[in-house]
Amino acid sequence: MIVESSIRKTREMIGRWRRQGDRVGLVPTMGFYHAGHCALMDKARELADRVVVSLFVNPTQFGPSEDFTVYPRDLDGDCDKARARGVDLLFCPEVDAIYGPEDQTIVEVGPLSQGLCGAGRPGHFRGVTTVVTKLFNILDPDYAVFGEKDFQQLAVVKRLVADLHLPVQIVGHPTVREEDGLAMSSRNVYLSEDERRAALVLYRALLTVQQEAQRAGFEIPAAELREIGRKMIAAEPLCSVEYFTIIEEVSLQERDRVDSGCRVIGAMQVGSRVRLIDNLALMTLS
Ligand code: PAF
Repeated sequence: MIVESSIRKTREMIGRWRRQGDRVGLVPTMGFYHAGHCALMDKARELADRVVVSLFVNPTQFGPSEDFTVYPRDLDGDCDKARARGVDLLFCPEVDAIYGPEDQTIVEVGPLSQGLCGAGRPGHFRGVTTVVTKLFNILDPDYAVFGEKDFQQLAVVKRLVADLHLPVQIVGHPTVREEDGLAMSSRNVYLSEDERRAALVLYRALLTVQQEAQRAGFEIPAAELREIGRKMIAAEPLCSVEYFTIIEEVSLQERDRVDSGCRVIGAMQVGSRVRLIDNLALMTLS
C-alpha cells in the first residue's frame, strides 16, 4: 500500500492506473478505522480494480464548539488496517494542501443539507460537500463508497454528484453494528462505560419503531411512531434527543403517513461529549 500526502503525486499515480484501464474505488474517511470503515474498503475492492482511501480530518465540517482538535487520530493503526484490507493507496493530505490561504470557493447543497443534522450543526454539510468535491477532483474515482449511518450525508452527496454532473457513482453501504446493535462510530471511544450502555437506546428506539410500523402494516401515523422513539430516549437519563423522526429516503422530507420507502432516523446527545446518529429502513427485506 502506498501512503501519499502529495496531491501532485497522487494525481499522477491515479492517472497511470486509469490510463491502463483500471477502475478506481474511493472510500473518503476521517480515519480511526473500525469494522465499519473496513466494510467500506471491502465494498470498494468488490467494485473497482484500485482502492483509494482518503484520510483527512476535515476542519470545515466541524463547528467552533465541536471536537475537531480532539477527534480521535491513529495514523499508524489506520495504515495497518487499510493495508490488511488490500487498499492500494492511502491519501492523507495536510490541511493547507486541501485549503489554500487564497481559497474562496465553497460547495453547498440546498434544502437537503438544512434539516436533521444540518439544523443542529449549521455549516456541517457545506464543509462535507466542499471537501468531498475537492477529493473527487483530486482522486477522480469511478465509485465512492459511503456508509448509511450518515444517511443524510449519503443523500446530500448523491444530490451534489447529480447536480454537478460529477462522473462518479455513489454507493451506499449498510451500517455496521457492534454485537449488541450500536452503530460503529469513531466517536464511540469517547463513551464511558455507563454512556456506552445508555447509547444503545437509540438503536432500540429505531428497532421498536420499525417493528411497530411493520406490525401495523404501515397503517400507523408517523407522529405516533416518533412519539414512541422519543419517549424511549427521553427515559434514558444520560441521553437527550436532538431529533427522532420518519423521513422519505430520497427527499429526506418528514412524513405524516409511513410506507416502505420511509426511514426512521435519529440523533441524540449522550452525556456531555458525544453525539450519536443512526437510522433504519422501515421495511426490511428479511
Ligand atoms: O463521513 C466522513 O467520515 C466525512 O464526513 C467525510 C465523508 C470523509 C468527509 O470529510
